[in-house]
Amino acid sequence: MAEIGTRQYFDDVEERKYFVEPHIPGFAQFERWRGKRVLEVGCGIGTDAVNFARAGADYTAVELSEVSMALAKKRFEVFGLEGRFIHCNAEQLSHHVEHGAFDLVYSFGVIHHAPNPARIVQEMRQVIRPGGELKLMVYARNSWKDAMIEAGFDQPEAQSGCPIAFTYTAEEAAALTAGFEITELRQDHIFPYMVEQYVRYEYEPQPWFKAMPPGMFEALEKRFGWHMLITAKPAS
Ligand SMILES: C[S@@+](CC[C@H](N)C(=O)[O-])C[C@H]1O[C@@H](n2cnc3c(N)ncnc32)[C@H](O)[C@@H]1O
Repeated sequence: MAEIGTRQYFDDVEERKYFVEPHIPGFAQFERWRGKRVLEVGCGIGTDAVNFARAGADYTAVELSEVSMALAKKRFEVFGLEGRFIHCNAEQLSHHVEHGAFDLVYSFGVIHHAPNPARIVQEMRQVIRPGGELKLMVYARNSWKDAMIEAGFDQPEAQSGCPIAFTYTAEEAAALTAGFEITELRQDHIFPYMVEQYVRYEYEPQPWFKAMPPGMFEALEKRFGWHMLITAKPAS
């Protein structure tokens, strides 16, 4: 692995992320946001962030972790990209960014880790512009992963000790996004690899997934994927 903070490191992170989670670019639709104001809630180390910026979005991020945000900022520097980074808790989003201003509010794998995800969505509602779009990924209850967690074969995150990870049914997702009208809700992503090999950068599927025809695995992902991908617009 390349040294953290180098161009090579960031390229490696991106390649691995979109190899393992190839549904992300299709969900984010980076190219659609050229010249538009994008707010990302919980940018982490900025993998999707650089792709919004590369596509020409006017990009702002809020992030709770100073360490992750520093790396995301460094990433923008390394690639010569423009972006605005705000260190804050998204529960107070509306105190930190302009109201009614963003064409897209995007948050991938973030709010289900917060104690009160619905509160964050209500904050998002205040800062999105009329006619804007919300794109949210939260964990899905009716999923292969949740079934494995329940049965004691898995845990919500690769790293142990994650204190909160809420999961949602489609009905609960509708309640979570009160004040928005959902325009698309779908599921995707089953992590098929053996973890021991994966941490060594080897991609060896579990034998039961390896035996499965690709079309069958995709059907399983669409029905029982861990990622609930929600697109919504502010209700009028
Ligand atoms: C699992 S990571 C996902 C990062 C990024 N969205 C991605 O897909 O790679 C969750 C991120 O959300 C941030 N986060 C969690 N709760 C937050 C909050 N209340 N306000 C802002 N950021 C938060 C964490 O610090 C972390 O960087």
